[in-house]
Amino acid sequence: MSKTILPNSTIGVFGSGQLGRMFAIEARKMGYRVHTFSPESDTPTGQVADIETCAGYDDLLEVRTFAQSVDVVTFEFENVPAATVEAAAEFVDVFPKGEILHTTQNRLREKTFLSSNGFPVTPFRHITSLEGLRTAVAELGTPCVLKTAGFGYDGKGQSKITSSDDIDAAFTALKGAEAVLEAFVAFEKEVSVVCARDQNGNFAHYGVIENHHSNHILDVSFAPALVSEAVYADAVEIARNISDTMGYVGTLCVEFFLSSDGKLVVNELAPRPHNSGHLTFDACVTSQFEQQLRAVCGLPLGSTEFYRPAAMANLLGDVWANGEPNWTAAATMPNVKLHLYGKVEPRAGRKMGHLTAVADSAADAARLVREARAALQPATESHTR
Ligand SMILES: Nc1ncnc2c1ncn2[C@@H]1O[C@H](COP(=O)(O)OP(=O)(O)O)[C@@H](O)[C@H]1O
Ligand SMILES: [Mg+2]
Repeated sequence: MSKTILPNSTIGVFGSGQLGRMFAIEARKMGYRVHTFSPESDTPTGQVADIETCAGYDDLLEVRTFAQSVDVVTFEFENVPAATVEAAAEFVDVFPKGEILHTTQNRLREKTFLSSNGFPVTPFRHITSLEGLRTAVAELGTPCVLKTAGFGYDGKGQSKITSSDDIDAAFTALKGAEAVLEAFVAFEKEVSVVCARDQNGNFAHYGVIENHHSNHILDVSFAPALVSEAVYADAVEIARNISDTMGYVGTLCVEFFLSSDGKLVVNELAPRPHNSGHLTFDACVTSQFEQQLRAVCGLPLGSTEFYRPAAMANLLGDVWANGEPNWTAAATMPNVKLHLYGKVEPRAGRKMGHLTAVADSAADAARLVREARAALQPATESHTR
């Protein structure tokens, strides 16, 4: 039987980025205290948490002290080492459980889990040598994508192989890391299902969200996705079955490739709230972050109903290229909301914040959010003269 963690209790969070920040905002709204643990200080999460511990994940003494100061632990960053989670779990429950973290933090283990349980994935091979890569490219055909098994995000650690001439460079780029070779999927679109499962096995989902990437980084998401009812039902069913098979507790995102014939394959899993679910913050009765909180605290899940169709556009550091963005321009649009993560340095490609918009249709919301983002960028010198 699950233990209910009530308001005024303290939730421990491994990781300190924007996902933890939005989780902490929801937790504080409901009267919980938040203690974040990561190797950095003055972090997006730490700025809104009650307590911020700055220590390495391998500092197990600090991890144990942290675990003894909180009532339950969750994470916003899936590359927390297994030993860290095990040390914390000596004192408190950790959700989602360490075993799930272990599976999803490595592409090879994740794909093996998915395919051995009958979930659709793109054909893949485990790569440990140049010779093995040559054989695998011959088997899967070109184009294909070589990805490091661990620590990949926003397309980092990936190389596309379009002909056998690319093999040597792609292998060298791995710098000895374990890798996975995947067949390239000529998808029509990318979609995701953000869902949550509580400690009693109840399941809730936000339907299908459509995702547009730019340079392998999520750019714009909108919901509901423009997909058929059959695709919608399939995607939700796959997400539900994955979360049941894993005995998942918390918010989970399943990323899919959808081909033009309506076939879905799972691209990857995120064992936490996901960038494509940020729009649930403004558009839904219960956000993906509040669902995570409810699930880890042993509370029932909230309604995932959308007030209105919605869209989200990421604000990367690039938006600052011509100086401080024109925040007033976004604030002038009544159906657009600004979220910034408290990061000081706007490096190119770094996720600094996002905008959400609501409208009468998802397509209108997507148009509006792109328009709002364009309005943020100050005109360049050549434009103004
Ligand atoms: N096998 C593939 N076929 C086609 N596109 C791919 C493939 N793998 C990755 N991509 C593209 O790169 C993006 C990022 O890859 P992904 O595996 O999701 O890694 P990350 O962990 O960086 O999000 C995907 O959303 C997709 O646009
Ligand atoms: Mg991805």
